[in-house]
Amino acid sequence: MADIEHLKRAAGEAALAFVEDGMLLGIGTGTTAEAFVRALAPKVRAGMKVTGVPTSERTLRLCQELAIPTATLETVPKLDLAIDGADEIDPQLRLIKGGGGALLREKIVAAASKRMIVIADETKLVETLGAFPLPIEINGFGMIATYLAIQEKAKGLDLSCDLTLRRSGDAPFITDSGHLILDASFGRIPDPEALSRALHDVPGVVEHGLFLGLSNDALVATAGGVRHLEA
Ligand code: 5RP
Repeated sequence: MADIEHLKRAAGEAALAFVEDGMLLGIGTGTTAEAFVRALAPKVRAGMKVTGVPTSERTLRLCQELAIPTATLETVPKLDLAIDGADEIDPQLRLIKGGGGALLREKIVAAASKRMIVIADETKLVETLGAFPLPIEINGFGMIATYLAIQEKAKGLDLSCDLTLRRSGDAPFITDSGHLILDASFGRIPDPEALSRALHDVPGVVEHGLFLGLSNDALVATAGGVRHLEA
């Protein structure tokens, strides 16, 4: 397999073919999204006019460093295109996202975009979602009750579920929106839609990392080149 960093760069660069002058762009979070931002920067320096809406403070800082103009969804609530990475991609282009902790803003931005293109290296392709622990963003208030309610929901779907509070060093990881993340190891998620509905029924759950029906395109970099997958 080719070097992963090289593949991420190839996927990020391939996304440039979909970016047009004047576009309002949702810009994802993570190392592959970062490769896209780094590929976009020379185009902007050369005169391409785009405005990016970053999905995290980390991506915002990178855009600022590279002089890519940014805005927020408050000023531009409808976007032309979102480009973002993923932790897992199944054959129907259903995704697990949130490995970088930005799932809430990523999902809001994806939903506000006419089109979402996922960029990834081939290691992200899976037959069934769930080997990567599903990030679940929760409110800090009542977190034990929320934890227990998620376990009950999983049981109702016959899923075994191991929940871990994400940490950053000695402290809990706090998202850009001030919430906590539970990483839920299911092993396999045979029915992502049912799990999504069940998790949304738990009041303390702010959002989860299952992205269902949000993307119809993926640019997946392999040793043999970048493949364009369509749902
Ligand atoms: C961040 C994400 C990322 O897109 C996902 O974790 C993939 O990251 P990377 O491109 O670094 O492998 O969802 O919340």
